[in-house]
Amino acid sequence: MYLETLHLTRFRNYLNCSVKFNAQKTIIVGNNAQGKSNLLEAVELLATLKTHRTAKDQDLVFQNASVGQIEAVVKRLYSQSQLTLTLRHKGRRTVAVNHESLRRQIDFLGRLNAVAFSSLDLDLVRGSPDRRRNWLDALLVQIEPIYAYILQEYNKVLRQRNALLKTIRKSLDNGETSSAVDNATWEQLALWDAQLAANGSRVMRRRARVLERLAPIAQKWHQQISNQTEQLAIAYAPNVSWLDNNPEQVQQAILDRIKRRQAAEQNLGTTVVGPHRDEVEFSIDETPARSYGSQGQQRTLVLALKLAELELIENVVGEPPLLLLDDVLAELDLNRQNQLLEAIEDRFQTIITTTHLSSFDQQWVQSSQILTVEKGEIIPSSTSIDTP
Ligand SMILES: Nc1ncnc2c1ncn2[C@@H]1O[C@H](COP(=O)(O)OP(=O)(O)OP(=O)(O)O)[C@@H](O)[C@H]1O
Ligand SMILES: [Mg+2]
Repeated sequence: MYLETLHLTRFRNYLNCSVKFNAQKTIIVGNNAQGKSNLLEAVELLATLKTHRTAKDQDLVFQNASVGQIEAVVKRLYSQSQLTLTLRHKGRRTVAVNHESLRRQIDFLGRLNAVAFSSLDLDLVRGSPDRRRNWLDALLVQIEPIYAYILQEYNKVLRQRNALLKTIRKSLDNGETSSAVDNATWEQLALWDAQLAANGSRVMRRRARVLERLAPIAQKWHQQISNQTEQLAIAYAPNVSWLDNNPEQVQQAILDRIKRRQAAEQNLGTTVVGPHRDEVEFSIDETPARSYGSQGQQRTLVLALKLAELELIENVVGEPPLLLLDDVLAELDLNRQNQLLEAIEDRFQTIITTTHLSSFDQQWVQSSQILTVEKGEIIPSSTSIDTP
């Protein structure tokens, strides 16, 4: 797929800016704080309706403005579509395809696919477990957009169950015994248990499935980047274990564990069982990468994961996704840089940001479209290749 144009209106520090892409690789050059990451963030939002930088739409709208917009034209093998995401300082965002608004946001997902890779991702291995869960969820949303809805439903149940557990804890703190918490409350909790198990099993089964598909691809890339010297293993470590990957089994496993952890949940006043406590474990030659991997090994690992994401999305969607590289090449040594560049060749439309063009291979620069960004405006650079 190919992103042909991007138009930003009152988005972050862009007031009104149009970009026309005309090469397989586009390099966006600019000093710090000019708007490089903001531009990639806009593309990421179209692909996932999420950004890893903020959870609030009001941060995305140009300061003091009430509405901001991201528009794009995406060309796919058999279609071309115009995507519009409207963000509001106050109120809900809305989405439209070919100028027709969509009632459900999940229908917007899957129109543009992108894999983002920034220096923040280098923390994926070492960071806290929620980093790895978020990474996995973002990948799942692109592969099966319905997952966005499944996850949202799970989180709703989780919030409500947590609120109830909190009330129960308060009653118990006030010296009441568990028999003093009224029956209606226990019945309500049992209802939430069932909901948590039903929704939790949907989340967990999909996470298990995507990792099963991703692992061999990541392993292959990892071997290649490490010159066949290291073996990567990726394991899903769900908060609940089950034997058979069928929905009833997984639900039952969650319910069983809730029973076993009852005292802890009532003590803490929060849900301790479910996919919000899942972990993904990476190991290199059977050693956990999180605690023992060297910095170089962790970089190789993240690079292998990103290449695997690209390939998996391409396999599932049937078209190569975009690759967004935010200031990350400079963080990789020459060997890893070359591995990445060779792997993507001209297969994936790639948008790269940098503060210095000099950090790139000259041949690469010559075959790329170069854009300069300054205070939220895009200026085509004189070295840019001609528009076809
Ligand atoms: N909602 C907003 N309204 C106006 N300006 C904003 C908004 N959000 C962010 N900015 C501004 O955008 C600029 C940051 O842009 P961005 O993160 O894209 O920089 P960058 O070019 O990637 O810089 P670096 O090289 O440091 O990564 C900052 O100056 C910030 O104040
Ligand atoms: Mg940046």
